[in-house]
Amino acid sequence: MNKTPNELTEANTDFTAFLKRYPEYANSYAIDQLRQSEFARLDNSAEIYLDYTGGGLYPACLIDQHAELLKTHVFGNPHSHNNSSQLSSSLLERARQDVLDYFHADSRDYLVIFTANASAALKLVAESYPFDANSELLLTADNHNSVQGIREFARAKGANIHYIGCRQDTLLADDISTYLSPRKKNSARLLAYPAQSNFSGVQHPLSWIEQAKQAGYDTLLDAAAFVPSNRLDLSIVSPDFVSISFYKMFGYPTGVGALIAQRDALHKLKRPWFAGGTVKIVSAIADFYSLADNEAAFEEGTVNYLSLPAVSAGLKFMQEVNIDILHQRVMALTDHLLTSMHSLRHSNGQTAIELYGPKTTQNRGSTIAFNVLSPDGHYIHYDAIEKLANQQGIAIRSGCFCNPGAGESSLNHSVETINLCRERLCNPQQQSSLSENQSFNLLDFQQCITSQGKATGAVRASLGLVSNFGDVNKLLQFLRSLLDQTVVKTATVD
Ligand SMILES: Cc1ncc(COP(=O)(O)O)c(C=O)c1O
Repeated sequence: MNKTPNELTEANTDFTAFLKRYPEYANSYAIDQLRQSEFARLDNSAEIYLDYTGGGLYPACLIDQHAELLKTHVFGNPHSHNNSSQLSSSLLERARQDVLDYFHADSRDYLVIFTANASAALKLVAESYPFDANSELLLTADNHNSVQGIREFARAKGANIHYIGCRQDTLLADDISTYLSPRKKNSARLLAYPAQSNFSGVQHPLSWIEQAKQAGYDTLLDAAAFVPSNRLDLSIVSPDFVSISFYKMFGYPTGVGALIAQRDALHKLKRPWFAGGTVKIVSAIADFYSLADNEAAFEEGTVNYLSLPAVSAGLKFMQEVNIDILHQRVMALTDHLLTSMHSLRHSNGQTAIELYGPKTTQNRGSTIAFNVLSPDGHYIHYDAIEKLANQQGIAIRSGCFCNPGAGESSLNHSVETINLCRERLCNPQQQSSLSENQSFNLLDFQQCITSQGKATGAVRASLGLVSNFGDVNKLLQFLRSLLDQTVVKTATVD
């Protein structure tokens, strides 16, 4: 039987009320045990970690097992054939299979390309997708920059780029069917969107995958922020491409991500170059090369072979945790946090927190973006809130989280405001090419946006693997301490 967590044994009345409201939370007491045994550093250092969307936390056993493996075996570069090389190769292939198994992906349909991170996985698609003047890139404005950036490859090849709009109040995307263009012969079309927004936690419908495929689109699902606390079952939804970073799921190792790709879809990609490991043969003097087959054609140079065994161990750990229980737990905590934040008021009745994205746990995950408002309704700068939280040992994040589209929508920026500020600040000689990368002072740009009465970013709290009621309560206590404050004073922000 699972033991009860600390909060209950301490007869915390808030926690008792929470449990009454979310009795399903009790199913996850094993995670509280794990927090004590595998993540003791959290409570030992009194760190309230609420930046899981930035990076997951690793269990101590993952480090121990990995260190033991490295200390007891000789691993060589898998591109050779000696024993130490073969040992690396066999663990590399095992890691591939473990990734497929974890996501219920049939190896007859899918294969796994190991990359440095999710961004590198996305770039493999971006640079190899057959964009041309007849092709289309359809994407949500709510995308991480590593997906947004695909448009520059598309643009360079003259592709049509279309954005799917979203509602400003909930950040839920519009009905996709109005954006899917009729099937055209020989025209490559790619839909790219996040399963979960790293800005607001919005979960865009997985049903889009089938809908888009029916309309003849290839589909790229950025699952980096989704898979840490949601089940992605590739036997149920079958995107052509899926991007992930493993450190977001189980904290360790960093520097390893994957593109999980349908075999058929991979054949549509055209590699723009070759590199070590991606070729069968190259002739320097006769100027020809032949690419390797399947995943090998995409794994440029030496894969992170010393870290890959830790991916297998991390996935096993996640299986033991049970993603469904974890999901139920973080969503109970998220619901409690959302409801409590929503009800925070200054004594004059003014709302203290402006929440972005869905206000309930429908269509969202455990990432919450918000701004703190003063009693007279002005934004308190997100940077000051993060610094103040930091002084209290609460790790949250602030800014726009590499997701400009979600930020622009939620903070109500218009194209006119953005262009106005941009034109004011750009070097006049460069203004003829507004789409080009221009150098201007970011702070001045932000000040210009602020002078239009808009916030330039937000604060983000994200829950994950071993979040508990105590973490959420600490954040709420911190937010309550800001009530009736007109400015917040920190050691480093005036
Ligand atoms: C939704 C999403 N996509 C892509 C990325 C990029 O991941 P990485 O920095 O590991 O390449 C992130 C990182 O936060 C993310 O949240």
